[in-house]
Amino acid sequence: MIPWARPDFYGLEEKYVKQALKSTWISDGQYIKDFEKKFSRYLNSKQSVAVSNGTCAIHLVFLSMGLKKGDEIIVPGFGYMAAANIALQMNIKPVFADVDPDTYCVTAESIKKQITKKTKLVVVTHTYGNVCNLTPIVKLLKRKKIILLEDTAESFGSTYKKKQSGTFGDIATFSFQATKTITTGEGGMIITKMGNNFINKIRSLRSHGVIKKRYYHVYPGHNFRLTNIQAAIGCAQLKKFAKIKRERKRIYNYYKKLFKDIKGIKIQKFESSISPVVWTFALSINEKIFPKRDKIINLLKKKKIETRNGFYSPCRLPIYNKYKTSHLKNSNKLSRKVICLPFYASLKDIEIKHIFKEFIKLKKN
Ligand SMILES: Cc1ncc(COP(=O)(O)O)c(C=O)c1O
Repeated sequence: MIPWARPDFYGLEEKYVKQALKSTWISDGQYIKDFEKKFSRYLNSKQSVAVSNGTCAIHLVFLSMGLKKGDEIIVPGFGYMAAANIALQMNIKPVFADVDPDTYCVTAESIKKQITKKTKLVVVTHTYGNVCNLTPIVKLLKRKKIILLEDTAESFGSTYKKKQSGTFGDIATFSFQATKTITTGEGGMIITKMGNNFINKIRSLRSHGVIKKRYYHVYPGHNFRLTNIQAAIGCAQLKKFAKIKRERKRIYNYYKKLFKDIKGIKIQKFESSISPVVWTFALSINEKIFPKRDKIINLLKKKKIETRNGFYSPCRLPIYNKYKTSHLKNSNKLSRKVICLPFYASLKDIEIKHIFKEFIKLKKN
């Protein structure tokens, strides 16, 4: 089976994990500090906070902002629903903005339509390694005095106008889950420009709301900590990030060369301002020329090729029934038509060619 994704390791992971074990520091430890420092250095951010995963990174941001019942946050209509799910958990209202049909990302125009007096936060998701067109979004939200969170889980290393994704908003969150560009198994990170008080609150809520005195809980916090063993893997992955990026570029370019002129297939668009570290090769299907997306997934599975459907839009998720979704025309369409092909650093050209050939065979006559 060619898997849809898989983590690739380069040797240092094992070495660092052994060192962490040998040190006996397996919960807290030096690798966490190193991982945070190296991550900050890479993104040129003042501080980074390592957490257990990308979802609790978002949860911590909401808690640290003091978001509460009745507040509204704007989230994408197509994308991983982490922010919207946490909003539901906290009784915050998720307000959906439609995405662009070509880039799969929200735009300043689609966000602007959803802003109300209750909007406290806008979450943009840089889907599949793409980056939203941030200049007009930042400008709009500065004018409206609304905080911008970049959900950078899928676009670590991608740049927009030569600057790293995640460094445009007030806050950015990252994920290091096993399918992500760099991985720690499960894991996440938060960076922010919102100042020391805010970052200290995030650090405190990450660890049961304690600030200085042990067992003295200033806030009702969580345990959202990353382990030293995971951070050891993260440090090793960061060291190989240049190679990982090169390999992902190779894979994307080869897929693109093969698929770009195929009738009935539209590849996700990356604007020229973006240099992506692609997370997965995503395309939408014209069902007059190819079978329905879900049928393609099953047929390729029989050929031992694992693919994934695009995200469900909230229009198709009953937990979001009571929220307005009828305007999400593009998100809804993408949610039925997008398919994501295998993508990981060690995927070979010969495998990409094989995937392409099997895909093209599915064309209707
Ligand atoms: C855009 C996006 N946000 C958030 C998450 C949640 O991250 P995690 O799986 O680390 O909780 C994911 C990923 O899986 C994601 O793709």
